[in-house]
This record gives sequence, structure tokens and C-alpha cells, in this order.
Amino acid sequence: MEYDFENAPDRSHTDLVKWDVKPGELPMWIADMDFKTAPEIIEAMQAKISLGAFGYEWPQKDYFNAVADWYETEHGCRPHNDWMIFTTGVVPAISTIVRRVSHIGDNVLVQEPVYNIFYNSILNNVRHVLSSDLAFDGKNYSVDWTDLEEKLANPLTTLMIFCNPHNPIGKVWTKAEVQRVAQLCQKHHVVLLSDEIHDDLVRKGQGYTPAFSIEAKSNVIFFSFTK
Ligand SMILES: Cc1ncc(COP(=O)(O)O)c(C=O)c1O
Repeated sequence: MEYDFENAPDRSHTDLVKWDVKPGELPMWIADMDFKTAPEIIEAMQAKISLGAFGYEWPQKDYFNAVADWYETEHGCRPHNDWMIFTTGVVPAISTIVRRVSHIGDNVLVQEPVYNIFYNSILNNVRHVLSSDLAFDGKNYSVDWTDLEEKLANPLTTLMIFCNPHNPIGKVWTKAEVQRVAQLCQKHHVVLLSDEIHDDLVRKGQGYTPAFSIEAKSNVIFFSFTK
């Protein structure tokens, strides 16, 4: 199948948040793809629409198998189907998890600078944002491991939201880094929520490590983009 990465449909005047801008302005802030959706997906949606009747549905085994197959072929590791649940979006799921695993007044740890919407899920649910800021040496960002452990050890810290690969710094965490974050969370009884929505945007050979694939994972909740 051929994919067109040269042309983008004109979506101005379509009530779109992204392109509701003044002439000459470029909306660089929102993760909304301008290329056409893959033809296989459009065909499947058209087949569904042509039925003309819509109701309540649950994704079945083939849906979860497709996700597991994707991980196996693209990332070399296979999640068990019974580890997966379907959600209607990453952000609604993060908010639900914040409410489920932490309590009002708890600290939810993030690594600033990070995707702004994490803050809404934490603050709207009356939890505190606690950042272990990423250290910047003028060229690269890295984890300040001493600071991270100190903040995870705080008894009010019950949840960490990890971004793997990290938005906005674009860093693909190494397996050793993912493992170390998970081990520290486990040591300090902090649930690790790993947002991996950008997992397929890594360059070839960069070795993205899904949090579900590491050993210390009894306390890991993991998100991926719905394929
Ligand atoms: C790290 C991260 N998580 C989640 C989202 C959005 O998730 P959803 O649209 O599925 O709620 C984005 C979008 O930019 C993002 O960058």
C-alpha cells in the first residue's frame, strides 16, 4: 500500500482547533496530523458507515490481538491480552487513574518540562503537582536521579506520570532509564503511569522500551496510542 506523505488536505474552515488561526499563522502547538488517515482505516470506517446503524459496541479479541501483534512486530515484545483495556483517549484515562490510585491532597510526580495536559488531570482532581525537573546542560536533558528518588520517597507521592518518549523534549528513554524509574517507583510504593502515546514516532534503531516489557512492572500502568 502506498502512503501519501507529500499532500495534506486543506482543513481550514472546518471548525478545526488546529487551523482556526489567522492568515499566515502556523499552529505548531497541537498534535493533530495533517496527512490523510491511512487508506485501510478510511475503508474500514466507510464500511461501518455504510451499514447506517450504530449502537453500543465492545472491542473484541481481534482488536487486542492486533495491538499485541503490533508491539511484537514493531517493538519486539508482546503484551498479554488480559493486561489491556480499551479507553476512549489517553487524557480521560489519565484522569480516571489519578482518581483511582491517588487520594485528594497526594503528590503526583511529573518530570518538567512535560506535556501541559498532565497538569489538568492532576489539579482538576485536587492533587498536587510535584516535579522532579529534568536537568538541562544546554544540549541534552537528563534525569536528576537523586532528586527523583527524594521526591518518590515523600510519603505523599503515590503516583508518577512518566512520558516515554518524552513530550516535549523528544527524548526516547533507554531501557536502563525506564528500568531505573520503575525500580525506584516500586521501592517507594509509587504507581508508575507511563504515557507512551508517541511510541511509534521514534527513529529507526532508537530502541524505544515499552514500560510493560521491563521486569519491575508490578506497579506499572501503561498507555499506548490506539493503533
Ligand atoms: C504525551 C501526550 N499524551 C496524551 C496526548 C493526547 O491524548 P488523547 O488525545 O488520546 O487524549 C498527547 C497529545 O499531544 C500527548 O502529547
